[in-house]
Amino acid sequence: MTTQEEEFQGVKVPPGSILHLRYGAANMDEEVFECPHQIDLDRKALTRHLTFSQGHRTCPGNGISRLEQVITWNLIFDRVKNISFTPETKFEHQPGIMLGALELILNFSKED
Ligand code: HEM
Repeated sequence: MTTQEEEFQGVKVPPGSILHLRYGAANMDEEVFECPHQIDLDRKALTRHLTFSQGHRTCPGNGISRLEQVITWNLIFDRVKNISFTPETKFEHQPGIMLGALELILNFSKED
């Protein structure tokens, strides 16, 4: 809850406001991430994402989650290559804090 009036990106936030953080929106901020909708593992500011929050709200499950993701992506890349989103894939805020795709439609080809 805000304790005093704040202004954020031109919006006045009165004292006593409860803010709902949208981490997914922050990860799509074009002022921080160039072409945020493109998969680019070499992008600038790669580690500035807020997927697991930051500071004292950092997700305590981030280590196990990162490990699961490394294992999963390695297994996927053993079998497929050239993965890309199709235009039909739409990213939307889910109830709660997450931004994701309700339906993920991908193009890929089989690894030789
Ligand atoms: C891709 C997977 C995950 C994502 C994106 C994620 C993301 C987050 C985020 C953004 C928060 C902070 C929420 C807030 O500020 O209110 C959070 C909190 C939390 N996460 Fe995760 N998380 C993931 C997986 C996990 C896993 C695997 C566990 C447990 C094994 C876990 C346990 C928790 C708990 C207990 C909190 C609450 C921490 C607190 O309030 O102090 N998360 N997570």
